[in-house]
Amino acid sequence: MEKNGFPQEEVISVENVSFTYGDDMILDDLSLDVYRGETLVILGGSGAGKSTLLRLIMGLIRPTRGRICVLGQDITQLSEKQLRPVRKSLGFVFQGGALFDSLTVAENVAYPIKEYNPKIDEHELKEIVHQTLAYVHMENFMDVRPSELSGGQKKRIAIARAVVTKPEIILYDEPTTGLDPIVARRINDLINQLREEKNITSIVVTHIMQDAFAIANRLVMMKDGKMVFEGHADQLMLSEDPYIQQFVR
Ligand SMILES: Nc1ncnc2c1ncn2[C@@H]1O[C@H](COP(=O)(O)OP(=O)(O)OP(=O)(O)O)[C@@H](O)[C@H]1O
Ligand SMILES: [Mg+2]
Repeated sequence: MEKNGFPQEEVISVENVSFTYGDDMILDDLSLDVYRGETLVILGGSGAGKSTLLRLIMGLIRPTRGRICVLGQDITQLSEKQLRPVRKSLGFVFQGGALFDSLTVAENVAYPIKEYNPKIDEHELKEIVHQTLAYVHMENFMDVRPSELSGGQKKRIAIARAVVTKPEIILYDEPTTGLDPIVARRINDLINQLREEKNITSIVVTHIMQDAFAIANRLVMMKDGKMVFEGHADQLMLSEDPYIQQFVR
């Protein structure tokens, strides 16, 4: 792919990937490139394989067939230990947030830093956590537990936790699902802000079209483990495929 005549750098490359659970074909010969600085939206119905694809890119599960390269490294060949530096460059916002309820907001956000840098100076750590929480306007909630937060606040903390290690790539699984439109817009603005200010590459899984259009540079649609569309928003809107038409309207 080219942008302004210059070739674009692939940061993620999924090559002919299949994934099965037992006899169930969850992903079927899927290929997809993601370019630096873009926000790629993945659309598709429930059970299409969207979360599975994100888990494969994170290296949490391995493909049955095919190759996945992240920042030039074939992660399907790496050991758990060799994966660590790759994972450090990936931020992940899980479907449902997945915050630790026994930890405070500040401890949740500090967690990934301590994982990679256990000897970090406490004062420095506090400063980083505070700055990151300020970025999502949650700096006044440092000592609160996640159970006391609203859905939108939890998502913002989950995003803070994903960005705190300054990853080059962030994967979001349904970041706006269950949020009211105003809070969803704040999350969309944050995703756009991270791209504009920090050139972060994002993959965002969603089935909310309004949110998809608010953030996407490019979209793909999945159905039954296959990719049925890849392109820009206007191309998606013009598609004559009945499934896509149904989904978009
Ligand atoms: N651990 C597992 N064991 C067996 N099957 C699984 C497992 N995890 C997911 N699946 C199956 O894989 C398929 C794809 O699941 P996945 O979670 O990737 O879908 P999704 O597109 O993210 O759906 P949703 O929009 O509901 O989140 C589903 O049919 C699901 O039942
Ligand atoms: Mg999912």
